[in-house]
Amino acid sequence: MKRAEAVKTPYFLVDESRLVKNLELLKAIQEDTGCRILLAQKAFSGFFAYPLMGRYLAGTTASGLCEARLGKEEFGGETHVFSPAYQEDEFQELLLYADHFVFNSPAQLRRYGERAKREGKSVGLRVNPECSTQEGHAIYDPCAPGSRLGTVKEQFDEELLPLLDGLHFHTLCEQNSDDLETTVQDFEEKFGRYLGQMKWVNFGGGHHITREDYDVERLKKIIRHFREHYDVEVYLEPGEAVVLNAGFLVSSVLETMKNGIDIAILDASAACHMPDVLEMPYRPPVRFSGMPGEKKYTFRLAGPTCLAGDVIGDYSFDHPLSEGEQVVFEDMALYTMVKTNTFNGMRLPSIVWKNREGEEILIREFGYEDFKGRLGWTEPGSSGKIKL
Ligand SMILES: Cc1ncc(COP(=O)(O)O)c(C=O)c1O
Repeated sequence: MKRAEAVKTPYFLVDESRLVKNLELLKAIQEDTGCRILLAQKAFSGFFAYPLMGRYLAGTTASGLCEARLGKEEFGGETHVFSPAYQEDEFQELLLYADHFVFNSPAQLRRYGERAKREGKSVGLRVNPECSTQEGHAIYDPCAPGSRLGTVKEQFDEELLPLLDGLHFHTLCEQNSDDLETTVQDFEEKFGRYLGQMKWVNFGGGHHITREDYDVERLKKIIRHFREHYDVEVYLEPGEAVVLNAGFLVSSVLETMKNGIDIAILDASAACHMPDVLEMPYRPPVRFSGMPGEKKYTFRLAGPTCLAGDVIGDYSFDHPLSEGEQVVFEDMALYTMVKTNTFNGMRLPSIVWKNREGEEILIREFGYEDFKGRLGWTEPGSSGKIKL
């Protein structure tokens, strides 16, 4: 392993002490309430940290074959999987990795449920309690009108109950436990009558448990209610909360320029390295910065791609930014490394691990082969395979 002093920006830095702080809280909740907490790998699949995370969490949940395999091979514990629609040719392989299968609809349950059962798997159905508690981001609201995610009460088929070991719902995004409380009321009203026949219920993700203002006591009360009243195991599968504030994206200023406003072009791109900034959209925190105008020097931070909208946002600083200077984006472990892309042939940020002793260790660097490898053959001489 290489020490990271000489690592070129941009790089993601995952901080063990910060990660452990989150994991300790999640572990304490499991110990206090008897619930089981899984890592939703869609938010963070940094498997270099899985041996550590596996000491605190019960396992992982996956969105399909690759994540399920990674969870099984690298994390251990329980491996759950949910997909809105499984693919026939992948399902057989999935049976090797996952032990809990959550189906999205009665049709999917009919198609695959028996097979999963025969292989000794635990089988669940994702339901949609039709209870929107989010404001603003319809694309993150699985309860939005017309949503494909989960079975609504009207579509629930009681004939399939003998196949089911559990019910799953996922409705939240970066929310507190008051919204969970609202959701479980609707969930119980619509589906509570079936819980007597279930072994488990899964509250999905979106619980911002490790955020400072999160009401952990209310979450514990809700979990205990389900465990005591319905005698079911309770699962939670947060992604964000596991790695919240546990990572950074370290970038450098390549150039500064003016066009009505001071602009700093960075070696990190919103479009390639933190796409949620544009997709969600949101304003990532930047170390030692303020809102525009709050500090003396305001700069527009922008990426090096051709996309006019590759802009991270306007931030102010105590000094004018200059070439070569580092700009550090905070809270960058979640939904970043798993979402990066090589648009414009951009290099993917390296990955660095900062251990508890403060040592920075290089996990991985990326280069030309990672760009090329996703787009076609890489063996020399292969171009003769098609006639051009
Ligand atoms: C089914 C399911 N479970 C868990 C999660 C993790 O959510 P979060 O990272 O917001 O906690 C998601 C996120 O989309 C999800 O769709």
